[in-house]
Amino acid sequence: MRAILLGPPGAGKGTQAETIVKEFSVPHISTGDIFRKNIKEGTDLGKKAKEYMDQGKLVPDELTVELVKDRLQEDDCKNGFLLDGFPRTIYQADALEDALKSMDQKIDYVININVRKELLVERAVGRRICKDCSQTYHMSFNPPSKEGRCDSCGGQLQQRKDDTVDTVNNRINVYLEQTEPLIDYYTKKGVLVNVDGEKSIAEVGKDIVEKMRNK
Ligand code: AP5
Ligand code: MG
Ligand code: ZN
Repeated sequence: MRAILLGPPGAGKGTQAETIVKEFSVPHISTGDIFRKNIKEGTDLGKKAKEYMDQGKLVPDELTVELVKDRLQEDDCKNGFLLDGFPRTIYQADALEDALKSMDQKIDYVININVRKELLVERAVGRRICKDCSQTYHMSFNPPSKEGRCDSCGGQLQQRKDDTVDTVNNRINVYLEQTEPLIDYYTKKGVLVNVDGEKSIAEVGKDIVEKMRNK
């Protein structure tokens, strides 16, 4: 099962990825998570990516494409994968298609999570992430049982640096200009699966799995 999660910032890609990878037993590959890990570890890639991420801009295609191509060669991707936040430009989508072709593979599903722009800022700004295990919460929609602490590991909850109102708005604009055209791109290829991302976290997860199973 080879799939892509598409949707604007805060739509619920990372949240739904948890359900999908459990259901289909494939690795979750989030370019945003990989960049954040590199920033934390102070790698060269992290230093380069940080400049762009802090402003809500896309990291240049060359850096991102190479990173994903390498990741897809790893053993755990043999039977499939779930990409989250990649591709984000037509260039990245074409590069992905070429890379998969050379491995005799193709994308089976592109899950497009639809959420109105008005709801996205609140979702992103209220998000909190465990600094130790990266579990995601939301202050109002999915709060931890103990304020500021992770339910799974007790770690401290933090806010992402790019989850401020201004940066989220920039990210939404970047999405509309550079990523939204991928909806058409994948519709034409017959692999797009639309889901209503405004329902509860559990309902959206159920819809995604059902639609994938029935496609
Ligand atoms: P990335 O980390 O991918 O961020 P994003 O696309 O902006 O998406 P988010 O992670 O913000 O949102 P999400 O859809 O995962 O939502 P979540 O499930 O957490 O990328 C960050 C940056 O990295 C980019 O800006 C760019 O600079 C760089 N980058 C990454 N990939 C790149 C690429 N391919 N090319 C170039 N640059 C790249 O949910 C959000 C919140 O809402 C949570 O608090 C959650 O609990 C809550 N929530 C989720 N679902 C629901 C629901 N149904 N109801 C109520 N609340 C919900
Ligand atoms: Mg995410
Ligand atoms: Zn934790």
